[in-house]
Amino acid sequence: MKKIEEFLRRLSFNIKRDKELELNRRGFIASSLSLMGVLFVSSTPLIALSKNRVKEAHESEVFIVKEKDIDVGQSVSFYYPDENDSAILVRISEKEYRAYNSKCTHLMCPVYWEKDTGKLTCPCHNGFFNVEDGSVLAGPPPRALPSIKLKFKNKKIYAVGITHAQH
Ligand code: FES
Repeated sequence: MKKIEEFLRRLSFNIKRDKELELNRRGFIASSLSLMGVLFVSSTPLIALSKNRVKEAHESEVFIVKEKDIDVGQSVSFYYPDENDSAILVRISEKEYRAYNSKCTHLMCPVYWEKDTGKLTCPCHNGFFNVEDGSVLAGPPPRALPSIKLKFKNKKIYAVGITHAQH
């Protein structure tokens, strides 16, 4: 800000008295444009940084569970991409797993795995989701659950990305 103030002060010294009004207008426009330029240039790195943060958050790798610690038909809760985003991993067969953000797409109640029915269930308003792809089977949820991409390494399971369903 000091540089901007100094710049504006210098501009005001250049104003001649006989054309004061005209120069004042010019000075105002020049200083406004300069200020806009300075603000744009100074905010560009912040915009880039925030975009990178979003990208990083969605591409981060988070350990969920070891394969041996989740049996077929069981589920494990975790958080992804950060501690505000509850998620659920379901082992649907010996070699198949599915993971979703577990906030219901209706009013964000926590969805849970109902082994007996084989569905992801929201108890708040009887919303049901298909464990295969997160799509809505019944109830008021307007769209599928966001799907979490998994990675397997050394018999451990990691969350490595999230895909939001389109409307
Ligand atoms: S919050 Fe899940 S069905 Fe309403």
